[in-house]
Amino acid sequence: MAQQSTLDVIVSLAKRRGFVFQSSEIYGGLNGCWDYGPLGVELLKNLKEEWWKAMTYRDDIEGVDASILMHPRVWEASGHVANFTDPMIDNKQSKGRYRADTLIEDYIAKLEKNGKTQKAQHVAARLAAAREPEDFYNIIVEEEITDPVSGTKDWTPVRYFNLMFKTFVGPVEDTNSVVYLRPETAQGIFVNFKNVMESSRQKVPFGIAQIGKAFRNEINTKYFLFRTREFEQMEMQYFIKPGTEGEQFERWREERLQWFLNLGMKRESLRLKPHDKLAHYAAAAADIEFMFPFGWGEVEGIHSRTDFDLSNHEKFSGKKLEYIDTVTKERFVPYVIETSVGASRSFMAFLCNAYDVEKVKNAANEEGGAGEGEERTVLRFHPRLAPVKAAVFPLVKKDGMPEFADKLYRDLQKSFKVDYDESGAVGRRYRRQDEIGTPFCLTVDGDSLTDNTVTVRHRDSMQQERINADAVKEYIWKALL
Ligand code: GAP
Repeated sequence: MAQQSTLDVIVSLAKRRGFVFQSSEIYGGLNGCWDYGPLGVELLKNLKEEWWKAMTYRDDIEGVDASILMHPRVWEASGHVANFTDPMIDNKQSKGRYRADTLIEDYIAKLEKNGKTQKAQHVAARLAAAREPEDFYNIIVEEEITDPVSGTKDWTPVRYFNLMFKTFVGPVEDTNSVVYLRPETAQGIFVNFKNVMESSRQKVPFGIAQIGKAFRNEINTKYFLFRTREFEQMEMQYFIKPGTEGEQFERWREERLQWFLNLGMKRESLRLKPHDKLAHYAAAAADIEFMFPFGWGEVEGIHSRTDFDLSNHEKFSGKKLEYIDTVTKERFVPYVIETSVGASRSFMAFLCNAYDVEKVKNAANEEGGAGEGEERTVLRFHPRLAPVKAAVFPLVKKDGMPEFADKLYRDLQKSFKVDYDESGAVGRRYRRQDEIGTPFCLTVDGDSLTDNTVTVRHRDSMQQERINADAVKEYIWKALL
């Protein structure tokens, strides 16, 4: 049997344990869309809460929650109607449809892998300069890039494809009723810049943060949650005085990298990468990339957007969006540093980061679990991200242990997402919790009934200690600080 890739194993664990399901699975699924199950929704909620606290529980950033459907002129002003496009190409034999730039990038990666560094650099430079559909087409034809499916070079011309999903407001489907599902949450922030600044009495520099769904009609979806058509973003626009963008860009790049590290990302699995090619709105940009099982991939973009968005919204709406410094009386349209991270994509990154299979070294007191030297699967989530914070087990289903355990479980449930399990050997129960990343397992045994203590077993070290049952809540709180 062919060996499964690490990503396949993680996707299958995610389904089996209720993190993520294919959307509309009983109908054969809908490409590029996923549903979060009972544990996934907890993990996603915890992740968003961590971001929300880091970004808005402070003096200089306010939150908003704008609507998904916005006035269609917003997307003309933002440049998305004209520029939010990907170059698309079809292979006539296989009928495969591809992003032309991705085909070329894959070809460059192959050249690099085969040690043809100079040639790879040459093609990369051509790709970076490509603007018109013919530029991409010429590279594909001249480099004799073949279709990964049919192996042929029978290509259609390249054409640009707009990624915005279109729909209609009201019963008449004509050009006057067209609206778009937002392809980014950022514009809901820009159009509310004045409302937020005035209502919250903020002064530049200050930021506005938002978490919400975004939609992109991607030509190719891939790698599980990495590139999907419906996803969630966590974006923050920091409004600053022109001239301070260099220092603010650097500051946010570092602050955002630190956020991932604080939540347990391994430093060697993260890197900062400046953009070679800038989006239509950006003056400088860098990505935070994570080492996914398929290779490095962007999880967050930090963009120096100048006054591109606010100035365009001024032009298109006819409303002034300037800032007046009450002390110096200076008037200016603020510049913006944006931090934009995918909630769904970073969910996948945290899942991959947490996934581990290890040989058990200390199997003491783990009766019925994997023995010494056997393998266990463990999700090493930071306790704040873990979907379930603790699991309570009565050692056996008699002698008052279930009643003691149930009381502890009900008490903890008032504060945390906790689990209760009384079936099978304790070691097996530990393994079930390891596989979903529960940091603490609490076992109630015969001694608990006399001295009111329970055993705490730690997910990562598998070490055990005995603590008073009344101190358990405090114990878990401390781990979440
Ligand atoms: N407002 C700027 C903006 O939207 P972006 O680089 O296009 O910038 C930001 O997107 C983040 O949104 C990405 O780093 C990624 O985490 C997430 N993202 C973008 N497209 C996505 C997709 N198709 N599926 C999942 N996540 C996506």
